[in-house]
Amino acid sequence: MALLQLYTTQSPPHLLSRFERKHRSLVDNYAKLRLSRSRTRNYHQSRLYSSFSVNGYNSLEGECRDKNVEAADERVGIGRWEWIELVRSVLPGGDWWRFTDDVEVKFLAKPVTLWRALTRMWDLVSKDRWVIFTAFATLIVAAVSEISIPHYLTASIFTAQSAEVQVFHWNVRLLVLLCVTSGICSGLRGCCFGIANMILVKRMRETLYSTLLLQDISFFDTQTVGDLTSRLGSDCQQVSRVIGNDLNMILRNALQGTGALMYLLVLSWPLGLCTLMICSTLAAVMLIYGQYQKKAAKLTQEFTASANEVAQETFSLMRTVRVYGTEKRELERYKQWLGKLSDISLRQSVAYGLWNLSFNTLYHSTQVIAVLIGGLSILSGHITAEQLTKFILYSEWLIYSTWFVGDNLSSLMQSVGASEKVFQLMDLMPSGQFTTKGNKLQRLMGHVEFRDVSFYYPSRVTALVLKHITFSVHPSEVVAIVGLSGSGKSTLVNLLLRLYEPTNGQIFLDGFPLKELDIKWLRERIGYVGQEPKLFRMDISSNIKYGCTCDTRQEDVEWAAKQAHAHDFISLLPNGYKTLVDDDLLSGGQKQRIAIARAILRDHSILILDEATSALDAESEHNV
Ligand SMILES: Nc1ncnc2c1ncn2[C@@H]1O[C@H](COP(=O)(O)OP(=O)(O)OP(=O)(O)O)[C@@H](O)[C@H]1O
Ligand SMILES: [Mg+2]
Repeated sequence: MALLQLYTTQSPPHLLSRFERKHRSLVDNYAKLRLSRSRTRNYHQSRLYSSFSVNGYNSLEGECRDKNVEAADERVGIGRWEWIELVRSVLPGGDWWRFTDDVEVKFLAKPVTLWRALTRMWDLVSKDRWVIFTAFATLIVAAVSEISIPHYLTASIFTAQSAEVQVFHWNVRLLVLLCVTSGICSGLRGCCFGIANMILVKRMRETLYSTLLLQDISFFDTQTVGDLTSRLGSDCQQVSRVIGNDLNMILRNALQGTGALMYLLVLSWPLGLCTLMICSTLAAVMLIYGQYQKKAAKLTQEFTASANEVAQETFSLMRTVRVYGTEKRELERYKQWLGKLSDISLRQSVAYGLWNLSFNTLYHSTQVIAVLIGGLSILSGHITAEQLTKFILYSEWLIYSTWFVGDNLSSLMQSVGASEKVFQLMDLMPSGQFTTKGNKLQRLMGHVEFRDVSFYYPSRVTALVLKHITFSVHPSEVVAIVGLSGSGKSTLVNLLLRLYEPTNGQIFLDGFPLKELDIKWLRERIGYVGQEPKLFRMDISSNIKYGCTCDTRQEDVEWAAKQAHAHDFISLLPNGYKTLVDDDLLSGGQKQRIAIARAILRDHSILILDEATSALDAESEHNV
């Protein structure tokens, strides 16, 4: 077994001089890296947020600036021209409706068309297509039954008035049948669409999560946890409305609206055409409204993700926040995104109000036109009162169907907007390590060789971290790599674990190129204790056994814990090895010892300790 140990040191005279001679570049890079690190950070900030700040930082500067502007406004006061400008900007098409520029740059997802989004969703639910087919079949029966009801309702009233008893009874029986059928089918339809919805969200989350898990580590260098969990949580939920709610309502109302329109044209084509014109105007308004809602939904999604990021970061760094007393500042940071969210909601509400205004005006115009033209037609004897009553009932049906279609279409657009980033993430190809099948060696001796290896992190291509590194570790040899903080020790380990691939040069294991070896096989044979070990929220025993493929007995776990000098403190815990822990409940040194026990338990050919005892006292370190 080869043992590779990494140490950070300020001035280790004997070790550093040897280290410096051998790997001068590691040390040289240090100063350059510090400089480039700050440059790169600035670059990222300016790339993502053109003018403002990284997720709310520098908010105090922003606050000061805002306050100055407000104060200036107060001093000058709002003049007549400003009022005119304000009114102009609030009118449709004015500046007030435009969304701010500082977030436009965050739209990294390619726009998805409605058709494409629906096809993707179909791919996800098609395995259970029987639910969808049942849903559609019941939808059609329910829609046809419902649309027939006003006809038989009016006919029943007018046949009763004209004392046609037999026809009246026939109409009433039909009416009862239609009511029962539409009731049963509506229930079935709702249930099936609900099930389809559940299937869609489940598959979507499963697919997205498994795609994310298989990404290269460099992918996680550029994404934040808050953003990714937001895609998995709220975005998938929003997309799920598509089948259960939006499509269901759109199809039902489109079907009923078409039926009502045909009925109206047959009853009286001039009146039918008038209603059609009004509905077309309504549809045009809805289209504009729908597009606006789609854009607003995308922004809401971005801002929600950003707010999540802030909350997630603050909660995970709560101790630092408390020690530095920055609660207020964190609240400001969160409120900044909430402010942006409410800005969007305000515009959405005003747009919704305008939309309702247009709907009500157009809806009542249909009634007025119908009574006016219909009344004149009755007077001239062209149509009967029964026909006019049916006409008014069906035109109401048509306009309501148009409204429902529009309303749900705008909701559908919002869901499609939310789906863009989810689908883009789902389309990411898994890391090459998981798709290519490598070789497995019969026996691993543990001869590690770095040959002329250079490397920079993909997220920081301008900073070369390792420059022409060549060294080898022989089986049964214990090698300590010592270097200044930030000089690239952990990076060497990252390359050996194949978390990243070298930019230049090659790494060999027992003479075989590392990248040609099977990744699963390789990782089972390398034990690793990281610099800042993290524990899962499960009991200590499971934490030690984590990732063990073989059947492990409790005695083995305790043996490993004893080797890592963790057994004594574990035994003192309230539930011993069954104590539930997470990242906060143990001291740094205790976590390190559990991580060491985890590595020992698996009996690897190569053991890498990246400053694994940095948090231990001298005695424990010596023992471990
Ligand atoms: N994921 C990353 N993306 C970009 N740069 C990184 C990443 N991880 C490390 N770096 C940079 O690479 C350089 C080497 O880092 P590394 O962690 O290897 O140093 P180290 O020698 O292990 O330091 P320490 O002794 O402090 O643990 C540092 O400048 C660091 O900022
Ligand atoms: Mg390190």
